[in-house]
Amino acid sequence: MDTPNVVFRNATLIDGTGAPGRVGDLAVSGDRIVALGDIGRVAGAVEIDATGLALAPGFIDAHCHDDLPLLRLPLLEAKVSQGVTTVINGNCGFSLAPIPPGRGRPPAPLDALTGNGRFVFETFAAYFAALESAPPAVNSACLVGHSALRHAVMDDVYRPAGEGEIAAMRDLLRAAMTDGAIGLSTGLFYPPSAEAPTEEVIALSEVLASFGGVYVTHMRDEADGVSDSLRETFRIGREAGVPVIVSHHKCMGQANHGRSVETLALIEAAGRDQTVWLDAYPYVATSTFLQPGRVRDASKVLITRSETTPEAAGRDLADIAQEWGVTAEAAAERLVPAGAIYFQMDEADVSRILAYEHTMIGSDGIVAEPHPHPRAWGTFPRVLGHYARDRGLFSLEEAVRKMTSLTAGRFGLTDRGVLREGAFADLVLFDPATVIDTADFQTPAQPAAGIHQVWTNGACVWKDGGPTGARPGRVLRRA
Ligand code: CU
Ligand code: ZN
Repeated sequence: MDTPNVVFRNATLIDGTGAPGRVGDLAVSGDRIVALGDIGRVAGAVEIDATGLALAPGFIDAHCHDDLPLLRLPLLEAKVSQGVTTVINGNCGFSLAPIPPGRGRPPAPLDALTGNGRFVFETFAAYFAALESAPPAVNSACLVGHSALRHAVMDDVYRPAGEGEIAAMRDLLRAAMTDGAIGLSTGLFYPPSAEAPTEEVIALSEVLASFGGVYVTHMRDEADGVSDSLRETFRIGREAGVPVIVSHHKCMGQANHGRSVETLALIEAAGRDQTVWLDAYPYVATSTFLQPGRVRDASKVLITRSETTPEAAGRDLADIAQEWGVTAEAAAERLVPAGAIYFQMDEADVSRILAYEHTMIGSDGIVAEPHPHPRAWGTFPRVLGHYARDRGLFSLEEAVRKMTSLTAGRFGLTDRGVLREGAFADLVLFDPATVIDTADFQTPAQPAAGIHQVWTNGACVWKDGGPTGARPGRVLRRA
């Protein structure tokens, strides 16, 4: 063996497959792992004493909205500080491409994620080229957003798409998949995509089959209608002949607490005849755009940003309403366009969904908000430290599997998510005894504790509590 660039010594190697960790060394040359386990006396150009620390594959965030942050905040500290080395973007129907020039401001909420339409790309090839000419610290793969497709071809998006419009969207989707996108996402919960009937989504998803793409969905209803929405999702997968991924699975609203018993049983049963996967984040609060009509569904609402009242970020909507002498709904009307955190889940459901064997970990964090949901900075360390170590919901090895090999397999990311000879050297070195999220609802933008070093494609991107400035992240195109 040539002299490796780096050798980690005496680490507990957690290989991402769920197998028990074992103490050993790991050598990296270029962008790959070249040896691990007992590697003999070969010395690395850099030697890292990892005694007492765990070395795992870099975490893959299964559900992201980092499409634009990759270009504007390329060090992506919120994610890298957690050990994340790959992000899956284009979720919930929102992507920056394919949107031809001259389409104007996209409908809300797509507008917020595209910088009011200033950062859109005509093709996925153009978006990927932008990422490659100014690479970020992490790898990324991207889904094609249904809202983007609708905005691209429909002059009035507040209705079902017509036959010609569906044909035009299918062409754009086919081109995006050819450029290397990994699937289609919908946000049928959101306006105006909520106008799309199931048949529209099936017609689009059919395009994915020949590419081996996945259909990923923020379902129409995650509250009272959650089971019906699951059935709709299964139908789309069955009729289009594609695997489906249920995004950030949850049961919202007090009346639905406990219903994850029913929803996981439905997922398990459907999984016997078709491919159904899911992701989740480890919190009882959701976060999305502020929708005044929905504030009454939550026990508490925190504002993450407001265009009309920037100083409202971080405040409780109830306090703002009291100060203004109006109802919470009326206060929300004054704050929009805005983002909010809604407390509306049950801890038992969150734990049950996280522990389900097919559940991947995805943060769904909005990293650029002034007062984001803490999931943007805390998701992965929280699963490792709080749910695995402190609560014993599953083993550390199983926690790592849910953030690495499981996710790489679902999204078709070759040679990622596993420690093995020849795999890419995406790595996270952490202390299993101290790893924990420090971001909370009061101070959400805080790096986690216990993450010592993070490496992407053989280059160190996070060390000693801060970014190194290296930006070795690559675009991962559909294999
Ligand atoms: Cu999302
Ligand atoms: Zn979503």
